[in-house]
Amino acid sequence: MRGFTQIQAVLSVAMILLMGALWGLPIAPALYVFDWLSSYGPGNRGWLDLMIIGFSASISFLTWGMFLLLLSGILQFVIRLRFEERIVTPLASLTTIRWAICGQIHRSTQPFLKHIVPSFFANAYYRLAGCKIGKNVNINSFTINDPSLVELGDNVVIGGGATLNGHLVEKGNLVLEKIIVGKNSTVGGATMVGPGARIGENSILGNRAVLAKRKVIPDGEIWVGIPARPISSLQSDASK
Ligand SMILES: CC(C)(COP(=O)(O)OP(=O)(O)OC[C@H]1O[C@@H](n2cnc3c(N)ncnc32)[C@H](O)[C@@H]1OP(=O)(O)O)[C@@H](O)C(=O)NCCC(=O)NCCS
Repeated sequence: MRGFTQIQAVLSVAMILLMGALWGLPIAPALYVFDWLSSYGPGNRGWLDLMIIGFSASISFLTWGMFLLLLSGILQFVIRLRFEERIVTPLASLTTIRWAICGQIHRSTQPFLKHIVPSFFANAYYRLAGCKIGKNVNINSFTINDPSLVELGDNVVIGGGATLNGHLVEKGNLVLEKIIVGKNSTVGGATMVGPGARIGENSILGNRAVLAKRKVIPDGEIWVGIPARPISSLQSDASK
């Protein structure tokens, strides 16, 4: 794309302004909540008044965070890329720009998101951002880095600190591909899962494992290590 360096510079400034709006707009309801709650104090700066102000400040911070999740999720829902198969696109392309904007919006949300995983608020945020989530899914990670490229089946557990990346830069191109986790499977804590990886149903990716791009864990298997390799099958364990 001709003039991409200049476009990148302009977009960098635009992104900072977007972050200003993303962090700033939710301050409005937060200030409203602060004024409302703190008005119940006696207003004399005594200990009771100060405690009410402190409580009002923390509730208004939580209000800010909830509206941040909502706004961030809606923006990603609108901007996200929609595709089923793998995408390979030059770094200097409109597709990359759309992906990068979503990534930046998600990163701007992570400082608050990390405090509310796992919870239905976090699941609702990830859903808004484009992640397909089944029933009874437990997400304890704020680093599902490309939410719109991730599908989680019913009863899936994503352990704390698990990082799911639906993207990779290879040979000057951005590669985007979905990560799919089948129902009843566990993605262990502190794992890394690459783009295009598939985890079957009733499977486990062990703690701290690295599941490389496009690797497939068949149904009912346990994989551990770096790079992740099978250690056993849950079905064969059950039949012992
Ligand atoms: C992978 C896992 C399921 C294995 O549990 P298990 O079936 O009870 O297996 P064991 O603990 O008996 O270990 C079997 C072998 O695998 C090895 N192993 C177990 N977990 C491992 C891991 N995360 N990485 C590397 N090796 C591992 C053990 O050292 C053992 O090796 P050995 O046979 O040479 O002694 C479990 O360790 C795990 O990581 N579960 C995921 C938990 C998690 O992160 N949940 C998310 C929410 S907190």
